[in-house]
Amino acid sequence: MRSVLIVYGSRYGTTEEVVKHVSEEMEVTGKIKVELVNSKKLKNNLDISKYDGIILSSGIKIGSWTKHMKKFLKYHQDQLDEFKKPIAACVCSGYASEPEKNEQYTQEYTYDFMATFGIKISLGQAFGGVFDFSQGSKFGFFNKTIIKALYKNDKSIKLDVDYESKNDYRDWEMINKFRDDFIQLINN
Ligand SMILES: Cc1cc2nc3c(=O)[nH]c(=O)nc-3n(C[C@H](O)[C@H](O)[C@H](O)COP(=O)(O)O)c2cc1C
Repeated sequence: MRSVLIVYGSRYGTTEEVVKHVSEEMEVTGKIKVELVNSKKLKNNLDISKYDGIILSSGIKIGSWTKHMKKFLKYHQDQLDEFKKPIAACVCSGYASEPEKNEQYTQEYTYDFMATFGIKISLGQAFGGVFDFSQGSKFGFFNKTIIKALYKNDKSIKLDVDYESKNDYRDWEMINKFRDDFIQLINN
């Protein structure tokens, strides 16, 4: 049975839901054993060489992956560089939520970002993100204020955001396609 490692970082839970979905579906549909690791809880370095494929994932905040993911990438940089099997990267991103900008942010937040660590990926995808202005939101007052200020004044942003509720721009068909493309890569 093939095995896949997924390492992720998620500040508000958006990316965590995505990678959990991808991993469950991969186990059931793809008959692949998945090890899902939250980079925040990672104590020691991992031996990544034993896997048949790796997915690296993060939510984006102020243009960046989470600090724990950056730490993971830095520590495993050489191993990832030497890894001969498929590596994929995916992110949840507010800017990538607009279909016309998806390709641009896929390039920037996955392929280009990984290249800064010397890591070459076989597959990259930016998914839309979540802007949660509801009462129970994990964003908190500070983040809600920043997003409102940024988005309301930026005319290039075409998203119709409701500043009173939860806006979920994740495209689950796109997420499932990413999963299926990755399964195909590791089965080749
Ligand atoms: C303070 C703040 C800054 C953000 N900055 C960016 C950004 O620079 N680019 C982007 O595409 N999305 C940005 N976002 C949107 C997030 O990417 C989106 O909320 C995503 O779903 C978060 O994923 P997570 O819950 O897994 O951390 C920002 C969100 C917040 C709250």
